[in-house]
Formats: sequence, C-alpha cells, structure tokens
Amino acid sequence: MPHFLDLAGAKAAGLRLILDEAHRRKAARIGIPRGTPDADAPLAGHTLAMIFEKPSTRTRFSFDMAMRQLGGTSIVTSAGDMQLGRGETVEDTARVLGRMVDAVMIRTNSHATLETLAENAGVPVINALTDISHPCQVMADIMTIEETTGKPVAGSTWAYLGDGNNMANSLIEAASVLGFDLRLGVPHGYDPDQAVIATACARGGSIDLVRSAAAAVEAADVIVTDTWLSMGQKDSKEKLGAMLPFQVNDSLMAKAAPGALFLHCLPAHRGEEVTASVIDGPQSLVWDEAENRLHVQKAILLWCFGKL
Ligand code: CP
Ligand code: NVA
Repeated sequence: MPHFLDLAGAKAAGLRLILDEAHRRKAARIGIPRGTPDADAPLAGHTLAMIFEKPSTRTRFSFDMAMRQLGGTSIVTSAGDMQLGRGETVEDTARVLGRMVDAVMIRTNSHATLETLAENAGVPVINALTDISHPCQVMADIMTIEETTGKPVAGSTWAYLGDGNNMANSLIEAASVLGFDLRLGVPHGYDPDQAVIATACARGGSIDLVRSAAAAVEAADVIVTDTWLSMGQKDSKEKLGAMLPFQVNDSLMAKAAPGALFLHCLPAHRGEEVTASVIDGPQSLVWDEAENRLHVQKAILLWCFGKL
C-alpha cells in the first residue's frame, strides 16, 4: 500500500518522481483559475478524507485544493467531531473509512495513531504532521529551493536552527535520502529524535548536530527554522531562554553563504525564532514555500494513488 508516512522509508527515485510532477503541474497551471481542475483530472471520482486532531491553515487548504485541482473531492473533519473524539478506536475508524473513501490524510498528536491508521485502513494514508514528523512540508521546502536555484538539492548545505521537533526530524530524513548536508543548531535538551538521526546516519546522511548557531549556519545555502513551541506544547520560559541564541536574525544570516535562502513552514513568531527583517526580507521564500504545499501535495496524492 503506497502510504506517505515518512521520508525515512522513501527512496530517492520516488521523491524525485514526486518533485518532478509537482514542478510540472505548477508550471502547467499558470493562468488557470485555481478552482478549475487540471486538464487531465487524474483523480476524478476519488475522495480523500482529511482528519485533524490539531489546527491547520496551509495543510487543510492545500490538500483540499489539491483534490479539487486533480478532479477529485475531499471530506474535511476534526477528530473531535468524529466518534474518534469519544473513544472509538483508531483501528475501527480506519476500517470504516477504508470502506468509504479512497485515501486518508491525518494530522495527529501521536505518530502511533498514524501508523495504526495505516495498518488498518486498506487505503493509502498520508502524514499531515505528527509529533515526530512533517514530511509533506519538507517536500514543499525542497521543491521551493529547487525552483529558486534551478537545480536539485543534492550537494547543497542546509542549516536548521532551534527546536529539534517534527520539522527537524523530517529534514534529517530528507537530507539522508536526497543527499544534502544538514547542520542542526539545537540547544542541549531539545535534540531531534535519536532514532531518526541514527537511521539517517546509517544510510550515509551528512547530519551534524552543533550547539552553536554560528557554527550551524557557516556558509550554508539554506537556513530553516520553526516555532520554538509546537502545537500542544506548554509555554516555557526555560525553553524560550534556551532557544534565544538560535534566533535567525540579520547577523546570523550574514554568516551564511552570500544570498542564502530562508525557509519557515509557518506559522511564524516574529521576534522569537526569526526576526521580521529576515522573514519579510529579500532572502525569504516563505510565501513560495506555502504555495508549494499545494503543488507538492498534488504530486504526493498522485504517488499514493499509483498514478506517477
Ligand atoms: N506549515 C503547516 O503545516 O501549516 P498549517 O499548520 O497551517 O497546516
Ligand atoms: N513544529 C510545528 C509545525 C507546525 C506546522 C508544530 O508541530 O506545531
């Protein structure tokens, strides 16, 4: 079953197919109203169920528009509006949805929920963010850098600053599969998932964990950060204090390669993980990055439906 659960399990050739399709479909849509399906409408007659245990703007709208542009339909719901919210098991929910829809996308608190859903649904399941990973977002990030630089990301150097969270984990996985170097500037106590790092390193990934923001960004081509407090995490003065030296600001950007590009999955907290001067400045690609969620999601859906 072609689930899209994590990048660690992916092959470079599969990710390449997805990225090439995303670039091609984006180029083909210039001048076409956003609600008009692509000419080939490859998912006509297909329905995607979208379940959210956490808030979402980009993921929700991009998947919904992706299904419309591919000629299909979607059903969007929050887990709290389902019997799931009253304790019906994930296994039973998966079996029922698998009898009614053609694929399921879920944003969930626990990665185990995603895996249980995938084991029981009998239809493709897509990870729309868990506590461990956010692979769809990282595919959009890679697409954005490729379209801006005009070349594949292999051989480039990326730096991730701040919390070793779901975004950091998916970037580590992507770096090991697609062959770019990744330095993570993360304070003690907030490291990415050790198993994710171990798997990436065993695969030959160039992954360096450093405790200095300056060392992380030195001569890097791409600078990435994310919120210091992910959804569901409690406000913590101690954590914010530990993160402060890892803020992406003008002086840090000046230590990166000239013309280094800045990414942030959004939502952003200006004055915390990034200054307004950087995120709203000329090196920032965050709006292209957000738009590319739509284009890359379409390609991920086509891959899951066996159409790539
Ligand atoms: N980047 C991202 O996943 O945004 P949403 O939380 O708005 O979906
Ligand atoms: N790390 C963030 C990503 C949001 C898209 C979170 O989990 O809240």
